[in-house]
Amino acid sequence: MQRALITGITGQDGSYLAEFLLARGYEVHGLKRRSSSFNTDRVDHLYADPHEPSPRFRLHYGDLGDSSSLAWLLAGLAPDEIYNLGAQSHVKVSFDIPEYTAEVVGVGTVRLLEAIRRTGLGCRFYQASSSEMFGSTPPPQSETTVFHPRSPYACAKVFAHQATVNYRESYGLHASCGILFNHESPRRGETFVTRKITRAVAQIHLGAEDKLYLGNLEARRDWGFAGDYVEAMWKMLQQEEPGDYVIGTGESHSVREFVEAAFAHAGLDWREHVRIDPRYYRPAEVDDLRADASKARTRLGWTPRVSFGELVKMMVDADIAELRRKLKGGREALGGPLGALAADS
Ligand code: NAP
Ligand code: GDD
Repeated sequence: MQRALITGITGQDGSYLAEFLLARGYEVHGLKRRSSSFNTDRVDHLYADPHEPSPRFRLHYGDLGDSSSLAWLLAGLAPDEIYNLGAQSHVKVSFDIPEYTAEVVGVGTVRLLEAIRRTGLGCRFYQASSSEMFGSTPPPQSETTVFHPRSPYACAKVFAHQATVNYRESYGLHASCGILFNHESPRRGETFVTRKITRAVAQIHLGAEDKLYLGNLEARRDWGFAGDYVEAMWKMLQQEEPGDYVIGTGESHSVREFVEAAFAHAGLDWREHVRIDPRYYRPAEVDDLRADASKARTRLGWTPRVSFGELVKMMVDADIAELRRKLKGGREALGGPLGALAADS
């Protein structure tokens, strides 16, 4: 049985990847950081009683900021594959906490790579690189496009990306980087723009709210479905040779287009509800991301399945269904008047 370790297993991608690997017969281990409240919502349905003789899903306390816990975990588990998805992944927040972001995203990756090297594990390694690394370089972006990062998050991802390439070249590690463009789902964090919009649409549709405040509506992103993208991560590690791959749909849409589509799906006119609040502008913006994923198509045989329109509908429908459930259970279940819409991001 193949054994995988996932950092960031409690996040959006970690949860889809864990499901994907379990369905392929893997034993899946995840790094979970300590939190004062439960942070395992996205993987609770995968929980296996640790008292069972050989549970195939296990979580372990650890942190990308803590080298010894990483080394200890690697030595004890000896995984065949490691997927490094853990990160402070919010671009806007990285301007507020740049040092911490660099510590977890950048140095955290080196901690993991160094633990692999020093324990002498012959495992395969996946690094979650990002299209944010291209920053202001115009589309389409491919594996050979120059990086021009525009945020502390993107700078840290470039460092982690180059460190992964360096460990591959220096020590012969089977280490691959997936340069993933934006991917979303009903499990997307509530302060990323797509989910912020679809949650607001649900609240407005059901009469729980009337306004949505956003920043730059003109930024363009190549949005795909997270469930499709975790398959690409796995495919990279099944290749004989490691390498770097751009993963995206090849289609870009503006935030405005996402807003229009989401409100229209719920029968609403977005102009009546959306307002601009400059606090959501970023000190430096990434204007236009669109993937050239031809290498992944040719070498991995990977193509996305869910279209932009289907993604928007899937997210709006899921948020309406979730809010209906919560409203049935009482308004206090909403966690405050606006829930995460009130968050500064
Ligand atoms: P996410 O939902 O924000 O999940 C991030 C995960 O990292 C969570 O499990 C989080 O734990 C964990 N984490 C945060 N700080 C940590 C630390 N100090 N030590 C260990 N774990 C820590 O992100 P995602 O959307 O799933 O993205 C997965 C990865 O792909 C990230 O590295 C992200 O930067 C990268 N990426 C994402 C996209 C995208 O569009 N989604 C595109 C390109 C690259 P908690 O649950 O406790 O917070
Ligand atoms: N979050 C947010 N909130 N973004 C807004 C808002 C708002 O109210 N209004 C407009 N935007 C714009 C942002 O300025 C940005 O141009 C775009 O919407 C997308 O923002 P996010 O959804 O926060 O994602 P991101 O593109 O900055 O970063 C995501 O994708 C990267 C891959 O390109 C994250 O998942 C990163 O972790 C990932 O690496």
